[in-house]
Amino acid sequence: MLALASLLTIAVAVSASVLPVRPERRLADADFLKRQKQVLDLFVGVGHSQHFKNEYADWDFAANFGSFTDEKYPKQFWEAYQRGFISRHAIYSLACHKTRHETIKLFDVFYFAKDFDTFYKAAIWAKNHVHPGMFTYAATLALYQRHDTQAFYVPPVYEIFPTLFVPAETLHHVYDDKLTGIKEGHYNYNDTGYEYVAHNQKYGSVWSTDNRGHSEYRISYFREDVGLNSFFGDWFIKNPAWMCPEKYNKPYLHRRGENFYYTLKQIFARYNLERLANGLPYPDVLEWTKPVRVGYNPRINYANGQSFFIRPDNFVPFDNNVADVSYAQQQERRVWDAVDAGLIFELSNKSTIPLDDHNGIELLGRLIFGTNDRPSGKYYRSLYYAGLDALAYVVSTGSDRSLAGGALSTHLTALRDPLWYSYAARLLILFQHHKRTLGRYTKDDFYYNGVKVENVEVDKLLTYFDHFDYEATNALPMEHTEDYTTYKYFVRQFRLNHKPYRFNVTVKSEVAGDALERVFLGPKYDSDDHLLTIDQASNAYFEVDRFPVKLTAGVNVWERSSTESPIFVRDHEGFRSLYSSVNNALNQKEQFYVSEVGKCGFPERLQLPMGWKGGRTYVLGVVVTPYDPTHSSGKYTEDIACGGSRLYDNRPVGFPFDKPAYSDAFHVPNIYFKDVNIYHKDAADVNRPSA
Ligand SMILES: *[C@@H]1O[C@H](CO)[C@@H](O)[C@H](O)[C@H]1NC(C)=O
Ligand SMILES: *[C@@H]1O[C@H](CO)[C@@H](O)[C@H](O)[C@H]1NC(C)=O
Ligand SMILES: *[C@@H]1O[C@H](CO)[C@@H](O)[C@H](O)[C@H]1NC(C)=O
Repeated sequence: MLALASLLTIAVAVSASVLPVRPERRLADADFLKRQKQVLDLFVGVGHSQHFKNEYADWDFAANFGSFTDEKYPKQFWEAYQRGFISRHAIYSLACHKTRHETIKLFDVFYFAKDFDTFYKAAIWAKNHVHPGMFTYAATLALYQRHDTQAFYVPPVYEIFPTLFVPAETLHHVYDDKLTGIKEGHYNYNDTGYEYVAHNQKYGSVWSTDNRGHSEYRISYFREDVGLNSFFGDWFIKNPAWMCPEKYNKPYLHRRGENFYYTLKQIFARYNLERLANGLPYPDVLEWTKPVRVGYNPRINYANGQSFFIRPDNFVPFDNNVADVSYAQQQERRVWDAVDAGLIFELSNKSTIPLDDHNGIELLGRLIFGTNDRPSGKYYRSLYYAGLDALAYVVSTGSDRSLAGGALSTHLTALRDPLWYSYAARLLILFQHHKRTLGRYTKDDFYYNGVKVENVEVDKLLTYFDHFDYEATNALPMEHTEDYTTYKYFVRQFRLNHKPYRFNVTVKSEVAGDALERVFLGPKYDSDDHLLTIDQASNAYFEVDRFPVKLTAGVNVWERSSTESPIFVRDHEGFRSLYSSVNNALNQKEQFYVSEVGKCGFPERLQLPMGWKGGRTYVLGVVVTPYDPTHSSGKYTEDIACGGSRLYDNRPVGFPFDKPAYSDAFHVPNIYFKDVNIYHKDAADVNRPSA
């Protein structure tokens, strides 16, 4: 009898279901494939071909104002263009107001084109006439935002603008080969971290300069990961601060504030895990008037050939850039005042808006990110950009239209620089201060009556480094557009990766209903091997999965694979493989699937921090909470957890680590912490403490 009962329990258990989150993919038809190919063509040789030739290259912009949903958009653009746009050879930066306004006008042309063909003709025109950076930004943005283009694949930005990713000396090698007639090559490069082991006497010995702060270079493989940086660049293209949700009918942009907070927090948590994996303590918090201990040499160039600036060690932001730092400090003070007062001043009608539990984090996020729907836009400027500009542009440049700066000067390169994380820490303190004013989480906030996580089983977690090849061909000028097919220059970066893993969550429930499961990875020990409390570790808890489930009364077991997580996305396919897939599909040699979604997310490779040879212990936290599917509109929206609104309940994103909690609050049956070990293969290769 007993045996039968437990058999029945198991029968119930295996049938537990995870609710689907992403829409189905569909097969591409010939029309789609033709246009997908046109979309790829847009980005080939961008900035090099003085005149990109194709059937639309002679399209007359000024004669086609009628092809837009409203003539005022092409007209406004055309007038501005006649007055003069940023030079094609300048450095493109949205930090310059004029450049930003020009970019928005170009985007409007793309966005309000009546149909795909008009969009495409206008894009070809722009490719031949405006700055390549502006063209690429506006075209990518339009492809993401136009309802008829969202399904197309856009090549990864490290293949569109390799100069922002590939070290200058590696590209130099590629140029040399091209000039001497070599049409193909593979070029390895090392991240700046290798400097740490390169010089026997200076690094690693008792005379090591390591003790002076350069141990930061141990994790350059993380900061300089091309997937990480293109993810971050993409995030800003999907959530532009300047974009007005009403004008473009994008209601989801109204979540930019909280989304911004959570993106910062996730990246910061993930970075901290990588630091701990390398024996490094949490990063310093930026102080405007104190030396930044660690300098940074980006070793990369802007697309026009100019190098990014190096920041020496012990650079003091305030001393070097008084005006911009003072401005950032002033903005910071205003936001701090709002947080301390618990309200925002709305100057337009002299009222106040409370920063409350309900909407506070969203509003605060808007203030700090500086979205155009923030309250009192004239009083609260963008703190995020004010601070970045103060840190990025420390050497005065010739013109406001050609802003050369450090790695922090573009979203595509900012995460390379250790200073970004110190700056993020400073902003996160401000966010968390607001969260703390709302009170800490207590047990009651977490408790789910009748639901108990009984067990979590995880496969062996294993990380390793592997070679990742991407193409740098687009960095070079070619005589004919077709040459981009025959010339092939691949660069190779050493990147962290991990074996896919599965885990089982067993939940015993007295109730049936819908629930949401969140899975986090956090540190157990700090860099000195001290056991961390949850409070101490909470800023390093990184969300790795989120999925809605149907809970049945009894025992439920969910088996889940790391590849199913909506938070991560695989490396995007490069130019060459996209072209070949499309061509093969057109010739009916293979099938090409389109998915409206699933192209956003944090790089899948970076799910796990580098393990240790003998295993390093982390904590997997599983949180099960009630979920009301009626809150989800079923509509897909872009955010860090890429499943859209189906992954939202009415809780803040990042829950339960989004705000401080009393440490006993986590002692509830529906939250389970499991120690897990992460191992690493290939001991000798990378700079890491002996395990
Ligand atoms: C990368 O670093 C390793 C270890 O120092 C070195 O052996 C190798 O030559 C470097 N490769 C390049 C392309 O610099
Ligand atoms: C003041 O203006 C803001 C922003 O336009 C609006 O949200 C708010 O409701 C207004 N408050 C009052 C009291 O009119
Ligand atoms: C999860 O459960 C399934 C079915 O019982 C089992 O085959 C698998 O090995 C389990 N996975 C883990 C990681 O324990």
